[in-house]
Amino acid sequence: EKGGFDHFMLKEIHEQPKAYRDTMLGRIDESGRKVVLPGLKLSDEKIRSLNSVHVIACGTAYNAGLVGGTAIEQLVRIPVMNDVASEYRYRSPLITPETLVIVVSQSGETADTLAALREAQANGAHVLAITNVVGSSIARDADDVIATLAGPEIAVASTKAYTSQLIAFYLLGLYMAQVRGTQSADDVAHVIAAMHSLPEQVESMLAQADTVKAYAEQIASHEHLFFIGRGLDYSVVQEGSLKLKEISYIHSEAYAAGELKHGTLALIEEGVPVIALATQETVLEKTVSNIKEVKARGADVMAITHEENVPDLLKSVDQALAIPKTLPLLTPALSVVPLQLLAYYAALARGNDVDKPRNLAKSVTVE
Ligand code: F6R
Repeated sequence: EKGGFDHFMLKEIHEQPKAYRDTMLGRIDESGRKVVLPGLKLSDEKIRSLNSVHVIACGTAYNAGLVGGTAIEQLVRIPVMNDVASEYRYRSPLITPETLVIVVSQSGETADTLAALREAQANGAHVLAITNVVGSSIARDADDVIATLAGPEIAVASTKAYTSQLIAFYLLGLYMAQVRGTQSADDVAHVIAAMHSLPEQVESMLAQADTVKAYAEQIASHEHLFFIGRGLDYSVVQEGSLKLKEISYIHSEAYAAGELKHGTLALIEEGVPVIALATQETVLEKTVSNIKEVKARGADVMAITHEENVPDLLKSVDQALAIPKTLPLLTPALSVVPLQLLAYYAALARGNDVDKPRNLAKSVTVE
């Protein structure tokens, strides 16, 4: 049942290339230049009338929504707000019929997310669900569903659901951009072409998992570490940190790299591991200065970046790992993979039950 893998989590990490392809299938027209979302009830008129988007979810699905929100904001130029469902539903959020509320849930059964959906509908919003279970309560109650076709996810730590949610967001963002005319046809085609390369790029990273494994064994003896990044890298390290905490039980914090010096830098001392995700070219230099700040306080820094940046970064970090190159906006669909593997191998090195971490359930149907 684990298809030759030792754990469901590792099997599901390896299923990501297929999940990407399946989630894209039938959603790109024959020319390969346009996103089509068959069955979508959200009309073009409605899309044009929207003045904001709320992205609501819990845990890993929330983290996927952070990337998704940025994708929509960049592609559609519409304000996006992200919130966790358990906060959103109790704070009288400003929801109007011009708000598109996107709820994200692998299981489609998360109690707080379902309640947020109902709150949004009660206020007249159109609710679109991105979910992996088409027969779920959230899929049933939402006004629209974009199904992630990741297949059943068994491991408690979500991996292929997260990345498939990213793919769903990219498709939705491109679709909305087509309708609102915020991206040229060529720009849309360019993103689609890059999306088609993602599955193979993930495969190439999976083939080099040994480097991540060796690093995971190194951090396994630590009780606390930091992830840093800027922009989309910051969104991705939030997922990397959650993954590491839930299965390895190593305490970690994901920090916006520029925010460290506002307090958290006090926690950096000799030997504290810092994992710096540095893929976003426009802020690379800034991230490098933050790396130097932690290095100067004794941190042991691992950078994850593109091949071309490795020689330069190695002047300020202890180790570097290169990931394949895609468009900056799509990079999260690649850069999260080494972080998933890191969590997996760290948990393994610590002898934990990888697929069933303590205190956690796969589907959270209580509030
Ligand atoms: C983390 C994890 C949880 C879930 C969260 C939401 O790996 O699995 O954080 O992401 O409980 O679950 P869904 O997506 O089913 O609503």
